[in-house]
Amino acid sequence: MVTAMATMNTAIEKAAQAIKNRLPAGFRPKMAVTLGSGLGAVAALLEEKALIPYTDIPGFPQPTVAGHEGSLRLGHVAGVPVMFLKGRKHLYEGPDEAAVTLKVMIRTLKTLGVEILFLTNAAGSLRAEYGPGSLVAITDHINITGFNALCGPNDDDWGPRFSPMDNAWDKDLRATLMAAGKKAGVKNLGEGVYCQFMGPTFETPAEIRMARAIGADTVGMSTAVENIIARHCGLKCVGVSAITNLGAGMSDEALSHEQTLHGAKMAEQGMAQLVRAFIETQG
Ligand code: HPA
Repeated sequence: MVTAMATMNTAIEKAAQAIKNRLPAGFRPKMAVTLGSGLGAVAALLEEKALIPYTDIPGFPQPTVAGHEGSLRLGHVAGVPVMFLKGRKHLYEGPDEAAVTLKVMIRTLKTLGVEILFLTNAAGSLRAEYGPGSLVAITDHINITGFNALCGPNDDDWGPRFSPMDNAWDKDLRATLMAAGKKAGVKNLGEGVYCQFMGPTFETPAEIRMARAIGADTVGMSTAVENIIARHCGLKCVGVSAITNLGAGMSDEALSHEQTLHGAKMAEQGMAQLVRAFIETQG
């Protein structure tokens, strides 16, 4: 009987092969960057060598939400070989299926030799001092989705049954990120704890107050799940949220996807500057 685990590993092999077939000779990126909602233009940093639509990569997320079109771009930033991933699967699209797709995507990166995963997202802020357009480096996260992508049989070849999460967001890489951001003059850069809700609804004002009370600084609908899968297979993670809005009930502004995309635009240049500054440290 072919198990779900074997099916997934076959999917990962196929995805890795599809990407390898398009890699320029000698191109070995040790870092991948995911681009959150409205942050696609950060990929303009890239001296692009190849663009692979997710539709050409079996098992990769085939996104359904406007602004989440999928593509993998390969190239150099400041001479460092990197991959940019535009488009991800969200738990609100159906958690079980999303978990499989995210595992295929992230474990494929691992298969290709990636060591560092730089995760970006668009997020709401729970702190008035981190307004729209701010950048918040993720120090830690709270997964309040009630879901964990690693539930079910564990594939020991990828990682342990019980994964430690005490250094989920790599302390050393974050120190490097903050120092590089400061040196590059990136404005409105802070640090905080990210809380992932399942979505797809935005939070209620009461949920925002709860998130603040339990120690969160930002809220969103992605990224903790990706971190969990990445840490399980040994990737180091660094992450930054582009603040698109204050949390529900903290301002008069109505929340919507359009507003998220608009807010992300405000943070996009700063995010690009920060991503570049970090990549330079990896050369
Ligand atoms: N909540 C959840 N996800 C988000 C938000 C928010 O306020 N803003 C951008 N993504």
